[in-house]
Amino acid sequence: MPVSTQSASVASLGFTEKTKSRELRVGIIGLGYVGLPLTLLFSEQKFQVTGFDVDQQKVDTLAAGGSYIYRILPEEIAGARSAGFSATTDYSRLSEVDAIIICVPTPLNEHHEPDLSYIENTAKAMAPHLRSGQLVVLESTTYPGTTEEVLIPILEKGNRSGLKAARAGAAGDNTFYVAFSPEREDPGNTQVARRDIPKVIGGMEPLATQYASALYSSIFNRVVPVSSPATAEMTKLLENIYRCVNIALVNELKLLSLRMGIDIFEVIQAASTKPFGFQPFYPGPGLGGHCIPIDPFYLSWKAREFDFHTRFIELAGEINSGMPYHVVASVTKALNQRRQPINGAKVLVLGLAYKKDIDDLRESPSLTIIELLQNEGASVSYNDPFFPSVGRGRKYDLQMKSTPLSKIEDFDCVLIVTDHSSYDYADIVRRARLVVDSRNATRGVDADNIVRC
Ligand SMILES: NC(=O)c1ccc[n+]([C@@H]2O[C@H](COP(=O)([O-])OP(=O)(O)OC[C@H]3O[C@@H](n4cnc5c(N)ncnc54)[C@H](O)[C@@H]3O)[C@@H](O)[C@H]2O)c1
Repeated sequence: MPVSTQSASVASLGFTEKTKSRELRVGIIGLGYVGLPLTLLFSEQKFQVTGFDVDQQKVDTLAAGGSYIYRILPEEIAGARSAGFSATTDYSRLSEVDAIIICVPTPLNEHHEPDLSYIENTAKAMAPHLRSGQLVVLESTTYPGTTEEVLIPILEKGNRSGLKAARAGAAGDNTFYVAFSPEREDPGNTQVARRDIPKVIGGMEPLATQYASALYSSIFNRVVPVSSPATAEMTKLLENIYRCVNIALVNELKLLSLRMGIDIFEVIQAASTKPFGFQPFYPGPGLGGHCIPIDPFYLSWKAREFDFHTRFIELAGEINSGMPYHVVASVTKALNQRRQPINGAKVLVLGLAYKKDIDDLRESPSLTIIELLQNEGASVSYNDPFFPSVGRGRKYDLQMKSTPLSKIEDFDCVLIVTDHSSYDYADIVRRARLVVDSRNATRGVDADNIVRC
């Protein structure tokens, strides 16, 4: 059926009915760690999905039935393709879809301020192709107010037909619907199925929330409607700030415990036996990933507009960003105790990914630690089963290849930064001259050459 005919017949049905009958067509913008799995969820539930990305290489890989994300198998992409999924860089194809979900990056710029350029560029590219009745959902993590103050004005200004976002009491023929619904995925978590993570949804007006709820109910077991996009935006930030602050708390208590000769991990384990009022968080070598090190600063930036200083966020940021320095100081001290300077020492960093068992090194503390070690004159190598080699990223330029574990004996120090499950820690300790463990990965292994930091 030609697209225009199909869209016209579909438009005569209600949004919710179209969702139920799977006639609703879904467009997903940004096919990264969030957008691609979301695409597969909709495709598995028999929706026709069109994916949009500016990265031609990703689009080509998907067109060839391949995958560029470790935990997504090529067979899953091939399955989606045979169910009607296609990827494109051509935004004009947005007019074919009924619901548009935006999953583009929201990093910080070099001044540690929100970089909304990806959302802005997406909105500019989308605007000319908007149709009345379409639902637009922003999933990218951002500060409260982004959907209403940034996304909607660009969409309204740039569309050709003078369409307006439906607002409370002002939905009509010449409108499109807008909601914010945060992505809450926990990469590497195999305990909670994606479907079981409730989906928070805040529409610009009740119909937008209702449409988005109908859409997401088809792939998630539970939706949680809230009163506005800003409430949904703030919900996501509360969740991530809660993690960031609590991790900072245990990081600080770890530093104290080390001085006091107390094992903080044993303490956390004991405290976790309390059946109420305590949730365990674990110390580490520093924060990583696209969320926890970044998102809190979206709120502290926005807070300034309200003459408000978010002290918990700043303090947590200060403690967490100091952890890589603590790790490097621990390596230096451990070598020193063996009468060896850090300058010229051969150090093998185990794990580049920002957390175990994932293939994502964005904001990974390993990158900072490698740089700091190199600044001290150490000769640094790394091993990571998820990264056979590493080149240039936004904030690093390593140009290194993963060193096989068979070479462990060649190093003065093995530094555990990411506790991948595939490592045999007892064997590593047995073969290494010195092991500095920033993750408590060697728990249960008793040897003189381990320094836990
Ligand atoms: N990765 C996670 O675990 C996670 C979890 C929760 C929330 N989030 C949030 O979700 C959002 C996306 O994160 P991600 O990890 O998927 O990022 P990502 O970098 O993996 O993917 C983003 C994709 O968007 C594409 N893109 C950039 N600009 C575009 C444009 N103008 N038009 C179309 N495509 C464009 C990129 O090429 C890339 O493929 C961010 O706001 C992030 O904070 C991520």
